[in-house]
Amino acid sequence: GSSLAALIASLTRTVPDFPAPGVQFADLSPLFADGHGLRSVIAGLAEASPPAASVDLVAGIDSRGFLLGAGVALHLGTGMLVVRKQGKLPPPVHARSYALEYGEAVLEIPAEGIELAGRRVLIIDDVLATGGTLVAAKALLEEAGAEVVGAAVVLELAGLAGRAKLGTTPLAALITQ
Ligand code: PRP
Ligand code: MG
Repeated sequence: GSSLAALIASLTRTVPDFPAPGVQFADLSPLFADGHGLRSVIAGLAEASPPAASVDLVAGIDSRGFLLGAGVALHLGTGMLVVRKQGKLPPPVHARSYALEYGEAVLEIPAEGIELAGRRVLIIDDVLATGGTLVAAKALLEEAGAEVVGAAVVLELAGLAGRAKLGTTPLAALITQ
């Protein structure tokens, strides 16, 4: 509710021109370091997501999606898939490059060892900016045969129109700026 939004806003530090000129960096470190804040956003993400019965697996995006995703997975009673940045996972992997708000990067998931075909996956990350990161994660999961049933973030930067890139995938945001 609005008190959760107020809590998030009060524990978010906005830093201008980081990591590149013109970028407004939303630093959620104070929120993560606050016991009530961390618990509240994880509970909020779990509540804003599709019902637990319709989620088989939570995918958290490297790196700030890991700490939130693991908490949401515990809430929903699912396991956790870590969507990693390039070069961290042993082969074989599914890989996809994407444009960031600043720069370019590659995300990877395992192509063996975890059966993803037909799994209903919820993607968790901290911030939606341009949407490049979430869309790359979604594409990777779908390439592996999973069904992406939703995505949830703490903060949506609405001015960058990332939501539209997700198409019909439901996206929950605890706070929009
Ligand atoms: C940040 C943020 C999101 C992503 C959002 O991650 O945590 O994952 O950018 O940007 P986008 O919607 O424009 O793709 P970053 O790549 O900085 O890495 P980190 O999570 O490891 O800090
Ligand atoms: Mg990130």
